[in-house]
Amino acid sequence: MNAAPAPRLRAMDACDLPQVLAIQLACYGADFVEAGPLILRRLACAPATAWVAEHEGQVHAYLTGYPSRRGKLTALHGDFEPAAADADTLYLHDLAVHPSAHGLRLGPSLVAHALAHGRRQGWRYAALVAVQDSRGFWARHGFVRAALADAAQQARLASYPGTAVYMVRDARATA
Ligand SMILES: CC(C)(COP(=O)(O)OP(=O)(O)OC[C@H]1O[C@@H](n2cnc3c(N)ncnc32)[C@H](O)[C@@H]1OP(=O)(O)O)[C@@H](O)C(=O)NCCC(=O)NCCS
Repeated sequence: MNAAPAPRLRAMDACDLPQVLAIQLACYGADFVEAGPLILRRLACAPATAWVAEHEGQVHAYLTGYPSRRGKLTALHGDFEPAAADADTLYLHDLAVHPSAHGLRLGPSLVAHALAHGRRQGWRYAALVAVQDSRGFWARHGFVRAALADAAQQARLASYPGTAVYMVRDARATA
């Protein structure tokens, strides 16, 4: 049996918005769906940490994030707040793979791509909020539950429906 061809990973562009919105709609419940203008504002303030994965010429997955500080997160529907010179963490806000592309390893490929970027920048950690039963997926990528910086970050975590878990890993390790 032939293995799936390696996906093409590239920087997200504003022109990708229709595909990004379609993937988001297919992956998340209605209470999670974030608006197009917000996604474009985030892309404009952190363009170096937004990627898409193409399979057979079509965008099937995306990953967006920004440089941050350990213990901080973005609330659902919140704007990104990139850290300036003191960034120590690659914060991964949203990874989504269209259900039609599950099993093609687009998610793991995007995660590896993002972590390699974080290593090149010298960021010590990668962090995220695991939602929708994705905690096992993230644990397989080395993320473990971690403490938040303060009550304000805890309040942000509470903006996510269902079980939401803040997770962190050492971004410098390759495994
Ligand atoms: C979670 C998600 C990103 C996984 O990406 P994917 O490209 O579909 O991953 P794959 O199907 O190629 O699976 C890769 C591996 O992770 C495993 N995996 C996938 N989802 C998992 C989960 N929720 N828990 C544990 N393992 C999981 C697969 O079994 C597979 O294992 P293998 O390495 O032994 O083959 C994808 O299912 C998704 O977009 N879900 C909806 C959006 C979402 O909830 N995103 C997470 C936000 S924090």
